[in-house]
Amino acid sequence: MCGIVGYVGEKLGLPIVIDCLTRLEYRGYDSSGVAYVDNEDLVVKKQLGKLNNLSSNLKNKIIPASCAIGHTRWATHGEPSIQNAHPQQDENKLLALVHNGIIENFNNHKQKLIGKGVKFTSQTDTEVIAQLLGRELQKVLNTGDNYSQNKMHSTMHSTSSLTKKQVLRAIHNVINSLDGAFAFAVVVKGMDDCIFFAKFKSPLILGKGIDENFLSSDATAILPYTNKIYSLMDGEFGYIDKKKIEVFNSSFKPVKVKFESLQIEPEQIMLGDYQHFMHKEIEQGAESVINTLDRLSSELQNLPNGIFLNDFNLHIVACGTALHAGRVGKYIIENQLRIPVNVDYASEFRYKNPILDNKSVCLFISQSGETADTLSSLELAKQKGAVTIAITNVPASRIEKIADYCIHTSAGPEIAVASTKAYLAQLAALYAFAEHIAKLRGIEISFSIKKIKTEVMRFSKFTYRDKLGDIVKDIKEQESVYFVGRGLDYILALESALKLKEISYIHCEAFPLGELKHGSLALINRESVVIAILTQKDLIEKTLNGIHELNSRGAKIILFSPFEELKDNVYKFIKTPLVDDCLSPFVVIKPLQILAYLTSLSKGLDPDKPRNLAKSVTVE
Ligand code: M6R
Repeated sequence: MCGIVGYVGEKLGLPIVIDCLTRLEYRGYDSSGVAYVDNEDLVVKKQLGKLNNLSSNLKNKIIPASCAIGHTRWATHGEPSIQNAHPQQDENKLLALVHNGIIENFNNHKQKLIGKGVKFTSQTDTEVIAQLLGRELQKVLNTGDNYSQNKMHSTMHSTSSLTKKQVLRAIHNVINSLDGAFAFAVVVKGMDDCIFFAKFKSPLILGKGIDENFLSSDATAILPYTNKIYSLMDGEFGYIDKKKIEVFNSSFKPVKVKFESLQIEPEQIMLGDYQHFMHKEIEQGAESVINTLDRLSSELQNLPNGIFLNDFNLHIVACGTALHAGRVGKYIIENQLRIPVNVDYASEFRYKNPILDNKSVCLFISQSGETADTLSSLELAKQKGAVTIAITNVPASRIEKIADYCIHTSAGPEIAVASTKAYLAQLAALYAFAEHIAKLRGIEISFSIKKIKTEVMRFSKFTYRDKLGDIVKDIKEQESVYFVGRGLDYILALESALKLKEISYIHCEAFPLGELKHGSLALINRESVVIAILTQKDLIEKTLNGIHELNSRGAKIILFSPFEELKDNVYKFIKTPLVDDCLSPFVVIKPLQILAYLTSLSKGLDPDKPRNLAKSVTVE
């Protein structure tokens, strides 16, 4: 969580940093800030709330700095406030620092520094890094250089005599004393031509341009400027200036940096004709399924396929929407292959002492490849000797680096906080995985990859907007909306409820329809709105029973189903595409995603940036 960016080059740095931050805002938007070196001066500007507040404040000001860093925050330590916004500084204001991650031993450091008389101005863990680094630099300035061969002049207040090597030494000392995760960028007073950085566990990439260089939490942020990317490894640190990039490993040895060209078109990260990324990404769902299915077959061939021929224990571990995709995967694998699958929330898996050994295969699903709970579970599974396979949408992400094997989804960059097209791509990967095992074991299954592609294409142009406007009116003022279904439809209900609550702030809860009478039916009265999903032919009768029970309690039932003949049983009916039962997750979710989107709009909210959330959840 939190996004950081840095630019050094021949252009005006600040507008570029602000522009890059707009593509990092999905990582947090509680506050934002920038720092730049203007001749001898180190200037820091911060604003509370979304980036717009900062950018409109800086608009019309021509600031000639060619070296700047920026930050967009998702608060972990300390409430969203100007004091807690980044950049953070040391008490002598020798430097300004932006950080993504969590410093676990910050309080130890903080207490020690306070004991030495250091004055803190924020509640953040980040300020500790700034203070530690500031003290290291001050030591150099006060005593002369302990490290470099060059003789230093002792100056209390000017940093103009600091060399890059001295700053790097100081950073090396500081990062050796930090526990936790960090990616940070630093500008130093008097050094208007370079940005220093360090990375451990949190993501940080470098971007190489012509007479300009970049750093960022994520490649898409800088993509309009360069696609030459180096993804830093844990423990690496260094600096960029406009011509040069130097990277060192944790033993302070130079690293040979190899830049790769990223194959993402800039349009993929632009809104284009859409008002919101969420809407654009919902509409890209079919493309995301097809691209994923077209590209992953070699990755399936590279799995340790021998293990699938014998008995093995399959676990799927993920969070949020990725977990819901995993539940669909469990349903399909158990139903079609008769192989038992355990599905766990990553945040629970880690602490339940899971039963794993070298006969266990664990699939970890994560769009971002950065989710802290999923990564910790992955590390645990590796320690216990399980075979680990990541399913991720972000190439070279941390999950890919840690897992034994990786299957990539090809949804393209997903920017809206609510996951939509990535969910569909995860389903595609799981169905392809199931089909792969079926082939290895010689099991006949009732779907094919070709059929999935045909069906998603067939219904991709349905927009649903006109049909859903009326339903939005029914739910937008509700305090609670309930979602029900059976079997696969219950899993779709879970995902639909998550989508709606996440961006409309309406309390939404999903129930297996048959469970209602065991307690939750007590919630239903004449004001209740219930969204029912029914796509499974053999569950029509049973589902209708539940619908009648709800009707008798006065609930307004809105049924999403391909079976139009059922419409007289409910208050409102939305016809969904008719496909083979096991393929319904691919086509039924779109109208429910659109419903969430339209409800959010009708409430005047920003569907791309729901309150309190961030896209990459890099804290546990
Ligand atoms: O990047 P990941 O797939 O690991 O993220 C997992 C969840 O945080 C994510 O799916 C979240 O639930 C979405 N915001 C839901 O729309």
